[in-house]
Amino acid sequence: MAPSEVRIYEVGPRDGLQAESTGVETDDKLRFIQLLSNAGLREIETTSFVSPTAIPQLADADEVMRRLERRVGVRYPVLVPNQRGMERALAAGADAVCVFTAATESYARHNINMSIGESIEAFRPVVAEARQRGFWARAYVSAAFGCPYEGEVPERAVVDVSHALMELGVDELAISDTLGVAGPSDVRRVLGAVGEAGIAADAIGLHFHDTRGTALVNVVTAMSLGYRSFDASTGGTGGSPFAPGSAGNLATEDLVYLLDREGVRHGVDLDAVLAAASFMADRLGRPLQSRLGRAGGWPGSVP
Ligand code: COA
Ligand code: ZN
Repeated sequence: MAPSEVRIYEVGPRDGLQAESTGVETDDKLRFIQLLSNAGLREIETTSFVSPTAIPQLADADEVMRRLERRVGVRYPVLVPNQRGMERALAAGADAVCVFTAATESYARHNINMSIGESIEAFRPVVAEARQRGFWARAYVSAAFGCPYEGEVPERAVVDVSHALMELGVDELAISDTLGVAGPSDVRRVLGAVGEAGIAADAIGLHFHDTRGTALVNVVTAMSLGYRSFDASTGGTGGSPFAPGSAGNLATEDLVYLLDREGVRHGVDLDAVLAAASFMADRLGRPLQSRLGRAGGWPGSVP
């Protein structure tokens, strides 16, 4: 039974921009974030306090966070891979953090240069500090539906890492199809296993990439199972430099359109999302990648 209301967790400024070859000015990132909050988005993943060598696109994380004009009622989570990242995030005024590991050893190694076990140990003090300060904390399980190095991922692997992350005390897990390979049966299989393992649907956000055009049907499938939190990136930007061939996240505007047609409430304005998407497409110097960006809404709104 589909929910009447869902939560849209915007990842455009972080996942969206981290693999773009065109550099985006700090001022433009800040403007983009403002446009996203104008559109009604209440959770906007803002940047990453990772190694600037690993992700040069987000090397201005400290400045972005310090200069951020916060809107009341909006959460601005940031990625933190280790204690060094946590120190930077704290100094810049962050109050919501995301740690990230993977369902496979090879993906964790390529992305964060740690084994899964090492990553859990690296996150333990980070999450403990976040909790002690009353911060909101999320943990990503990357490559949960397929790994560029190991291929198919057994659901047991997702369950094991999910348990370990929940035990650290995070508020939420982001079960991620980093490669964009999952179909509805995979969603049922993985979420079925996670649910049977006792992790509540309300503690899970779903992070789908639209690399192969399956993101929306995966959202619909997850909604039918009672899941209510979905990640999306305005403009359909996104991908990981560590996931070869990965393409954009599910575009926020494509998700909003679907939810509007289905009568599912979410609090986000389609035209305002399209305006933010156009702004970023201009900065990146290329046309919008999303379906809605090309076709416009219906009725009304043509970008
Ligand atoms: N912020 C800034 N610099 C950092 C850092 C952080 N959070 N953590 C480590 N560094 C620096 C170190 O100071 C060191 O710098 P130096 O070479 O100038 O001495 C260098 O990075 C290497 O540090 P080390 O601890 O050996 O890390 P590593 O090379 O094993 O890399 C990560 C580990 C996690 C820091 C790195 O892999 C990373 O940032 N990955 C993020 C990838 C990502 O964001 N992927 C997309 C999101 S899903
Ligand atoms: Zn992603």
